[in-house]
Amino acid sequence: MITKIDHVAIAVRSLATAIEVYSRALGFSEWLLEGVSEQKTRVAMHAIGDCRIELLEATAEDSPVALFIARRGEGLHHICFQVQNLDVELQRLRSAGLRLIDQTARAGAGGSRIAFLHPSSAAGVLIELAEPGTTIHSHINLD
Ligand code: CO
Repeated sequence: MITKIDHVAIAVRSLATAIEVYSRALGFSEWLLEGVSEQKTRVAMHAIGDCRIELLEATAEDSPVALFIARRGEGLHHICFQVQNLDVELQRLRSAGLRLIDQTARAGAGGSRIAFLHPSSAAGVLIELAEPGTTIHSHINLD
C-alpha cells in the first residue's frame, strides 16, 4: 500500500540558480545539500510538511541527471511514493504487467529500500517506491 508522497525530484542545470528561483518564487529558503557520488549528482532538499522537494544537479557529463536534461530538459525527474512493504508492491506491479526498472528492492539512503517503475508504465513519469529505513530519505537514479 502506498502511504504518502515521500519526495518530488526535479532535474536542474544549476543548484544555485534553482535554489534562488525556488526561494524567491515559493519562499523555500532552507535547503540541505548532499552529494550522491555513485549517481554523480548533488541534491538539494527542502522539507514541506513530511514531504520534500529535491533538486538534482549533475556533477559529470555522464551523470544520469545530465543525460536526462540532455534528452528532456530541466523539469520533473521522478516522484517517490512511500510504501509499507516494497516486496509486496513489486509483486503486485509485476502481476499487473507493469515495467519495472528494478526487479527487486535495492538499498537507498538511511537504510531504506527502493525500486523504480519505468516511465512507460506510469504516463511518462519515473516513479520511485521507497520503504523507509531508520531515517526516511532516498537518493536518485534514472534508467
Ligand atoms: Co528519489
